[in-house]
Amino acid sequence: MSTFQAPKGTYDLLPPDSAKFLAVREAIAAPLRNSGYGYIETPGFENVELFARGVGESTDIVTKEMYAFETKGGTKLALRPEGTASVLRAALEANLHKAGNLPVKLWYSGSYYRYERPQKGRYRHFSQVGAEAIGAEDPALDAELIILADQAYRSLGLRNFRILLNSLGDKECRPVYRAALQEFLRGLDLDEDTLRRAEINPLRVLDDKRESVQKQLGDAPLLRDYLCDACKAYHEEVRELITAAGVSFEDDPKLVRGLDYYTRTTFEFVHDGLGSQSAVGGGGRYDGLSEMIGGPALPSVGWALGVDRTVLALEAEGIELELPAATSVFAVPLGEEARRLLFAKVTELRKVGIAADFSYGGKGLKGAMKNANRSGARYAIVAGERDLAEGVVQLKDMESGEQAAIGVNEIVAELEARLG
Ligand code: HAM
Repeated sequence: MSTFQAPKGTYDLLPPDSAKFLAVREAIAAPLRNSGYGYIETPGFENVELFARGVGESTDIVTKEMYAFETKGGTKLALRPEGTASVLRAALEANLHKAGNLPVKLWYSGSYYRYERPQKGRYRHFSQVGAEAIGAEDPALDAELIILADQAYRSLGLRNFRILLNSLGDKECRPVYRAALQEFLRGLDLDEDTLRRAEINPLRVLDDKRESVQKQLGDAPLLRDYLCDACKAYHEEVRELITAAGVSFEDDPKLVRGLDYYTRTTFEFVHDGLGSQSAVGGGGRYDGLSEMIGGPALPSVGWALGVDRTVLALEAEGIELELPAATSVFAVPLGEEARRLLFAKVTELRKVGIAADFSYGGKGLKGAMKNANRSGARYAIVAGERDLAEGVVQLKDMESGEQAAIGVNEIVAELEARLG
């Protein structure tokens, strides 16, 4: 009996599937690296107050889903439920915004933790790759990020995703809308919890998934109709820029996100093959977050794409990524002398950059060839006493089955040439 299991809502990434996750992270990061984003890494936990203030005291993430704890020294920390607050905290702390080079463009990749009810696509430990562009108010920056996410998904071969786009207004127009929405919600037949939510965070009610609630929201006022001129013009410019880039999107005037820091541009990438957890990524502009966590005014925009859900989306579309074989050459020694010689050759091959592996544990030919097969190697090099007496090894092409003797001193050059 195995005593321990992975905690509820988590799973282990194991080969060969784990290679897909690495490839997805790579594919999302590639367009960012190519567009001036520098890599940032922050701790897996932060002061709990950072998220309470940043993500929002009344959000589900902060009230229900945070892994918060107190250290032996009495510090209140939380495992990070998201990356934006941490990245902005780190940028402010290091004064990156004062280096005179705004926006500060950063990308990250890592583990995030939310105490959610687990289901397919929703885990308590998950991976995101994200990007934040800090300190510039420019519709082209919002457009850049949406275009790069689109490019990342397309480079993976994904097609059945949609981009939902909205504007949440700013500190001028949102309060007016908020009051109007509240007034509307007060007139509905809602349970007590929902009415309370309407008082604290009315926009969140728009996101209520229950049909009994959605049915009543048909005539709800839309933020779109309350945007101030500046927000309207900004949003129009974002829409034009992404349209000009050939990226299609849908206007979704009811799109609200689960985090409170958003202003103006907000968007979500949804995949139609994933069932209820359809958001593969999301983001938007957060012009007030810096001030909310004690920094100067730094209008910013960013997104995070979920690696777990992106892998599920690939599976839903039946996409097999073309992953390079982990091993190109597999060495099979028969006998002690061959073991020493081939072990040295494997080390040499690795030094010149050829992925090579070795049959360990003194296996016989049959067992070792089985390992060679499983490794996915294109070539096996097999050597026994008789071969070595003649100064050769057998080089076997695992695809064609062809075998040829080659001189011991030619192994590396021959394989370099063949693997080109
Ligand atoms: P978010 O929408 O909360 O945004 O998360 C982004 C993505 O992370 C989701 O679309 C989803 O793919 C993935 N994700 C979230 N929760 C889970 C979960 N429990 N299990 C599996 N995947 C999950 C943010 O986190 C913002 N920080 C994005 C952002 C960056 N906004 C501005 N900059």
